[in-house]
Amino acid sequence: MPMKVVAQIKLPIEKEMELFEKKFSSSMSSKVSLLNKITHYVVNRKGKQMRPMFVFLIAKMNNDGAVNERTYRGASVIELIHTATLVHDDVVDDSDRRRGFFSINALWKNKIAVLVGDFLLSKGLLLSIDNDDFDLLKIISVAVREMSEGELLQIEKARNLDITEGIYFEIIRQKTATLIAACCAMGAKSVHADSQKVEDMRSFGELIGIAFQIKDDLFDYGTTAIGKPTGIDIKEQKMTLPLIYAINNATSKDKSWLINSVKNHNKDKKRVMQVIDYVKAHGGLEYAVQQMKDYQQKALGILQSYPSSPYKDSLELMVKYVIDRKK
Ligand code: IPE
Ligand code: IPE
Ligand code: MG
Ligand code: MG
Repeated sequence: MPMKVVAQIKLPIEKEMELFEKKFSSSMSSKVSLLNKITHYVVNRKGKQMRPMFVFLIAKMNNDGAVNERTYRGASVIELIHTATLVHDDVVDDSDRRRGFFSINALWKNKIAVLVGDFLLSKGLLLSIDNDDFDLLKIISVAVREMSEGELLQIEKARNLDITEGIYFEIIRQKTATLIAACCAMGAKSVHADSQKVEDMRSFGELIGIAFQIKDDLFDYGTTAIGKPTGIDIKEQKMTLPLIYAINNATSKDKSWLINSVKNHNKDKKRVMQVIDYVKAHGGLEYAVQQMKDYQQKALGILQSYPSSPYKDSLELMVKYVIDRKK
């Protein structure tokens, strides 16, 4: 049987990922036992760890296969901040599942989830500050600001239901792509790549981050088990690309029905199903898939300027994985 894609991607960074996991888990320690209990819960239910994988692969591709302590810290900072945003995101989205288990808010309530998210965020920032990684801190702080803005822009648009395709792309760029852009830029910066290379890697991450979020939004239209709820975006009045496309291409009667459904019947499961079926029947998913592939191709284009290496091969596989992944 051929090796699983993820195992294949990890081959050139196996040692680094192993050491990373140890460092990441100890980066969360606290004297408060309730916090330790919760962070243990978090560490034991790890995600795909795509962001640290990007950090190591990009550092290695830009530095003849060598990483350093800054690279490890960069990877930990990114994963800490990513984890913090997921803990907060599940409060914001009122979601009770994450990574196949209960979310922090489902188990410990919102109050605790908000504080745990803040703790993880501060731990991430301090890891950079305490080691004088100010260049990395700058990259990550911009991403944190943009993520908060993206989540708030999304709420603003959900309230007014006036989202356009352009605004959708701005939201996903801010809430998701900037963090992936930051990890790619940090990977290069951690090994002191020149500023043009750092910028190229940032663009690469942004493009792949946009494709990544389109995929995440497509999962919401599916019924397969992905470890978190599906079909909740419309319930939360979150309009994503498939629905935006369907609305933009609907007759005015259908358009009113769609918008009225999201506005006034978003908690009605049957009605939400009808909207999902409408979107599916009117090419919304195909359109989003095509957009996702366009971003994927642009990201691959940036990698072309690099000579071939095992790291570049893995990154190309990673770009494919973002789109083909099953969760
Ligand atoms: C989930 O990110 C949040 C989004 C930006 C869509 P991941 O899908 O990378 O989450 P984990 O870490 O693997 O759970
Ligand atoms: C991505 O948004 C989460 C963040 C960028 C904070 P979603 O709300 O779509 O992510 P999931 O689907 O809950 O992982
Ligand atoms: Mg969410
Ligand atoms: Mg989602």
